[in-house]
Amino acid sequence: MTALALTGGPAAAAGLESRIGTWPRVENSEAETLLRNVLQSGHWGRLHTNSYAEQFETAFAAFQQSRHGVAVANGTVSLQLILRTLNIGIGDEVIVPALTFIASASAVAEVGAIPIFADVHPETMTIDADAAAAAITPRTRAIIGVHYGGYPIDFDRLLPLTREHGIHLIEDAAHAQGTEWRGTRVGALGALGSFSFQESKSLPSGEGGIILTNDDELAERARLLHHIGRRMDRPGYMHYALASNYRLTDLQAALLLTQLKQLPEQVRRRDQAGRVLDNALAESGVLLPQLRDERITQRGYYFAIYRYQAEKLDGLPRAAFLAALNAEGVPASAGYGEPVYRYPAFSPEALQTSPLRGLPNLPQYNQLRLPITERLCDVEQVTIPHPVLLAGSDRMGLIADSVAKIVEHRDELQAWWRTKEAGSILPDGTLVEDSVSARS
Ligand SMILES: Cc1ncc(COP(=O)(O)O)c(C=O)c1O
Repeated sequence: MTALALTGGPAAAAGLESRIGTWPRVENSEAETLLRNVLQSGHWGRLHTNSYAEQFETAFAAFQQSRHGVAVANGTVSLQLILRTLNIGIGDEVIVPALTFIASASAVAEVGAIPIFADVHPETMTIDADAAAAAITPRTRAIIGVHYGGYPIDFDRLLPLTREHGIHLIEDAAHAQGTEWRGTRVGALGALGSFSFQESKSLPSGEGGIILTNDDELAERARLLHHIGRRMDRPGYMHYALASNYRLTDLQAALLLTQLKQLPEQVRRRDQAGRVLDNALAESGVLLPQLRDERITQRGYYFAIYRYQAEKLDGLPRAAFLAALNAEGVPASAGYGEPVYRYPAFSPEALQTSPLRGLPNLPQYNQLRLPITERLCDVEQVTIPHPVLLAGSDRMGLIADSVAKIVEHRDELQAWWRTKEAGSILPDGTLVEDSVSARS
């Protein structure tokens, strides 16, 4: 095979790169019409009858097979609103995974509750039910399960566990638009679920979010709280609860309605390409896919996740592998980089100025060690963003070809890597020089 692209050879996945396209993208002409309607209507917010926000709530809840949706400003405050809705607050404990975006845990702290980190399952990379069970105390009020990358949590284990202990199962479904468990879409299988529509997500509106539930009372309370404690169906300034303003604007809702039209087809295409990619990569064993599970009847994607097996490349560090893979034309990274508890935000100093200051029973986050999460963050995790899957099933083989090429050229890559200085790797697995050029 030709030389590695990193050292001047042609990129093995050039035919993939050319098909990936930009994200977010508009695939229908309706967006401009609806956005113009909002601009000309004089109602840029949602406080009018038959708002786009209301229409979107109905449409997305139906798509995700849930009874109720309450649209909000983003997928971080949606988690806060869920916790407020469940009356979870100061000093309560909420169990979360540490392999996630920080919002899954920082939202807990924002309402004064204590995030308790539990390890993930090594092959699914979602919260491990045994670890979650072991973390339950009399102060535990909920488990937040993150459908990591779009891969659903194990509802068969977590629903009975939460029921048995009289606590809530909250779904952080920021990554999981379209994901199905045993034929039902996720988001309202637990008490309440939270989605993000931030622009990198598979249903984007710049910023945005929604909470879903099948429970009429919880939906009513969430709606009240999201509107500063006011009732949506009563005009005037009567406030029934102390709460914040979480509302989505009608501009974002208009965009979401048009994006939602293209979502079902995109979910199908990603799911299909994801299966093809997992199978194509399985052969070399360098990138191990998440466990294939019959109960996952459809997989939505934020990213596809693999476990890098350095021993297949004579111990080559992940950063070197990623540099070579990126050069071949495959966008891939090490994910969020750190277990959430290792961020400076969880240092004793930072906690002193957080909503958790002064609380008894605070864990010593800087002493925590969750071995599976740490192994994934430090050496194994490789993520491929969802727009890559939209390049089409027929292009997924190019990713496997790129990996095979790297395996074949591993000695050359080792030699190249030895010329790199230690310390030039960022926590997300990219090289300093690459990331600087990518951002400039
Ligand atoms: C797992 C997870 N939860 C919550 C969020 C927060 O969503 P937002 O960025 O819309 O606030 C994100 C965003 O990336 C996320 O990845």
